[in-house]
Amino acid sequence: MLKINNLHVSIEGKQIIKGLSLSINKGEVHALMGPNGSGKSTLSYVLSGKEGYEIEEGTIEYNGKNLLDLEVDERANAGLFLAFQYPMEIPGVQTSFFLKTAINSKRKFLGMPEIDALEFAKLIKSQAEDLGIGSEMLKRDLNVNYSGGEKKKQEILQMSILKPDMAILDETDSGLDIDALRIVSEGVNKLRSEQNSFLVITHYQRLLNYIKPDFVHIIADGRIVKSGDFSLALELEEKGYEDISKTA
Ligand SMILES: Nc1ncnc2c1ncn2[C@@H]1O[C@H](COP(=O)(O)OP(=O)(O)OP(=O)(O)O)[C@@H](O)[C@H]1O
Ligand SMILES: [Mg+2]
Repeated sequence: MLKINNLHVSIEGKQIIKGLSLSINKGEVHALMGPNGSGKSTLSYVLSGKEGYEIEEGTIEYNGKNLLDLEVDERANAGLFLAFQYPMEIPGVQTSFFLKTAINSKRKFLGMPEIDALEFAKLIKSQAEDLGIGSEMLKRDLNVNYSGGEKKKQEILQMSILKPDMAILDETDSGLDIDALRIVSEGVNKLRSEQNSFLVITHYQRLLNYIKPDFVHIIADGRIVKSGDFSLALELEEKGYEDISKTA
């Protein structure tokens, strides 16, 4: 589904990703862990199509297509979803309006008519309730003055509604209280199926106890230095990055 090969990326002349390769098949959940500044968010920005990143070398294939040829909206239409480490605040845009626009843009791409107002209200109500998001929050401007955890939940709500084929979650667990962590994990597990894949970026093994990943990768200085199964996350918790990198 997603195949990254020997990726080299620089920002303003500084190389950040230095030969990263990663393959994610349909139905798989991969966790990406690594020290601060190792390039995890940079990778997610590159996948999202954010401007300013220079791809110096390497390829990214998504569902057999060259991902780098696709515009940001084309990537979303192709079923790629990104939850950012720092979700953007959009003053003047009501959260529910934003969600409706996102759904309708996907439906338009699929040749479907716009979602019926009643159907949308029902959908959003049930999904928001599952995540413990109150209806008054959906009336507020997107992410504006939301608490850190509320922003993360909002990202998961968006994901639950769009049902992407491939979701990349960049530290969606950071800043969540224990209950919210469980709720957010349930949101992911509910969507999880043989049809879709996840790349979960996290610093904490705790999240991975709820979302059992099939594979765990460790990134250091712009490349993957070690891959394994869930036990690698446990090993990491015990030994820390420095020791793990040494044995890589
Ligand atoms: N626009 C930019 N200009 C210069 N350097 C940048 C820019 N964006 C990112 N970097 C640098 O690239 C490196 C990788 O950053 P990135 O955000 O990908 O790290 P990360 O692995 O997500 O870290 P964290 O765990 O703290 O979220 C850092 O050293 C960062 O300072
Ligand atoms: Mg980051």
